[in-house]
Amino acid sequence: KTIDGGQMLGALAGLPDQCRGAVALARNQEINYSRSFQNVVVTGLGGSAIGGDFLRVFCADKSPVPVTVNRDYHLPGYVNEHTLVFAVSYSGNTEETLSAYEEAKAKGAAVVAVTSGGKLADLAQKDGIPFLAIPGGLQPRAATGYLFLPLLIVMEKLHLISVLTDDLEDLGRALEDMGRRLAPEVEETNNPAKQLAKLFYQKIPVIWGVSGTTETVAMRWKGQINENSKAPAYFNVLPELNHNEIVGTEAPAELLKKIELVFLHSLDDHPRVEKRFEITKEIIGERVSGITEIWGEGNCLLSRMFTLTYLGDYTSVYLAILYGINPSPVELITLLKNKLA
Ligand code: F6R
Repeated sequence: KTIDGGQMLGALAGLPDQCRGAVALARNQEINYSRSFQNVVVTGLGGSAIGGDFLRVFCADKSPVPVTVNRDYHLPGYVNEHTLVFAVSYSGNTEETLSAYEEAKAKGAAVVAVTSGGKLADLAQKDGIPFLAIPGGLQPRAATGYLFLPLLIVMEKLHLISVLTDDLEDLGRALEDMGRRLAPEVEETNNPAKQLAKLFYQKIPVIWGVSGTTETVAMRWKGQINENSKAPAYFNVLPELNHNEIVGTEAPAELLKKIELVFLHSLDDHPRVEKRFEITKEIIGERVSGITEIWGEGNCLLSRMFTLTYLGDYTSVYLAILYGINPSPVELITLLKNKLA
């Protein structure tokens, strides 16, 4: 059985334009909160939450306030009128996010809704809450540009992070460059995403990133392999995994030969973490099926995070094609949501 994965590949090809559109959309949005902020909370689930994790990592050393991500019905106890809450749901109908939205309002937080429609759009309109209307018709995980960049621009508008023009231009260039090399018409010998998909086929991908740099990318690769390729995948981060997960590689050879490891590096990594990668490879390299090491590209952390993300996205779609599976539908998520309704 062959399958072309056309819809998801089309969405991937459009990512650089999506990013530009997302920035323009948020720049044109009026946000009238004039209070001071102590923290930022992004509340959402799945594809709508991961933009929050990109924001958290990106802002960690650039914003005076902490960003946290909430994937739950309830918000953390510290949320108050000095909290900026982004309620993000692509469909606008995710019950955990709707519950957290109500709680944010009740606590007097400054709420900004990000959605393509659904109940969240209706509520925000009714409540007079600023609301970023992003285009619909995509799978949430294919809308990462819309689910991340507007949050960054709103933070910039509220003086919680400083102007990012150079970074955004670099991101556009880096994504276009990477996209050209990953496109379906580029044959496997020159296409790193097709090569990785082949390595992952019939294996269990385990993605290791780095706290504060590639951690969200590693989580994203895992999620994309789960949802697009309909296959198991796991992720973890250095340095923490050097203190536990590494010991799991003492398991029987039979088990470990199924594990295909990827190390996601960034120029932004602490030099001691790079040393840890090197030693980790030396210690466990022979035990697992293989280790592929990859660095993000571009001149800033934003570009390096998203070029790696782009590579993982394409890889997951090519893996779906190898498995003869349509990457777009996520029937088990729909089934579960329907059973809960
Ligand atoms: C990703 C995906 C899920 C949803 C999640 C929340 O493509 O399908 O991870 O993102 O179930 O739904 P939304 O994003 O509509 O709030």
